[in-house]
Amino acid sequence: MMMTPSIDLDAFRAFEHEGWQGVPQQYHSAFADLTSQAAMALLDAVEVTAGVQLLDVATGPGYVAGVAAQRGANVIGIDFSTAMIAQARQRYSMIDFREGDAEDLSFADGSFDAVVMNFGLLHLGRPERALTEGHRVLRPGGRFAFTVWGKPEEAVGFGIVLAAIEAHGKLDVGLPQGPNFFRFSDSDECQRVLLEAGFVSPFVTTVSQTWRLRTSDVLFESMFEGTVRTAGLLRAQSAETRDAIRAAIRQSALQYKEENMIELPMPAVLASGRKP
Ligand SMILES: C[S@@+](CC[C@H](N)C(=O)[O-])C[C@H]1O[C@@H](n2cnc3c(N)ncnc32)[C@H](O)[C@@H]1O
Repeated sequence: MMMTPSIDLDAFRAFEHEGWQGVPQQYHSAFADLTSQAAMALLDAVEVTAGVQLLDVATGPGYVAGVAAQRGANVIGIDFSTAMIAQARQRYSMIDFREGDAEDLSFADGSFDAVVMNFGLLHLGRPERALTEGHRVLRPGGRFAFTVWGKPEEAVGFGIVLAAIEAHGKLDVGLPQGPNFFRFSDSDECQRVLLEAGFVSPFVTTVSQTWRLRTSDVLFESMFEGTVRTAGLLRAQSAETRDAIRAAIRQSALQYKEENMIELPMPAVLASGRKP
């Protein structure tokens, strides 16, 4: 998943778009309780209170927008997947959700007090564009914040799955290549891109999160049914290889058993900056 000069970013975007169009319900079932855990910290980082004009980019099923609305913010949520937008509207009928591209926002300069992106940046072919677009639509003094997953050795749900694929299958399976999934797990890289996009006072912290799964099989199922890039990797293996990967994932996940649940550490990296 490393960035190389030969990456076809349009092919990658089409692959991601098709993928997210197909998984809104499965994504919700697998990830709602996990990605929602970062919502409060993300909204605190951009100082969301009643009356704040907020844009939630790559809103998915709208979890962060929903929490912001509870705080009394005026929220717009955008996502490039119409299926995700339909899911978000169904969940939070009072919020304004629109189809839109994180890399090319259809809002005037200075329209928002705050812009957030919860686990969205790592899915973009051109993440720098999302940062400069976020900067453009903010008013001076406005704040931008995003979350991504911690490194695979910390966000162990990903670590377990990638290690199982490496041990039993192949990582290079001919999928449209995209940028490194864990690029922004690195705090220095977050600070660098925020500064480059024109933000000041970049701040990076970790949000502790736990993925609670009913059984050790749910980790494979969640990745297989509810993601795009990781699911693509799993689907591209032969049936026999996939069975070996599934068994390895089950074994590793069992090491995190606590009473009746599997509890996987899945920290988020939270990065924020201010438009001068
Ligand atoms: C991992 S989900 C995160 C959803 C939600 N923010 C959450 O907290 O769970 C990633 C979302 O990014 C959206 N997405 C990916 N690329 C996008 C783009 N270029 N513009 C807008 N949305 C995009 C996908 O459709 C998907 O809903």
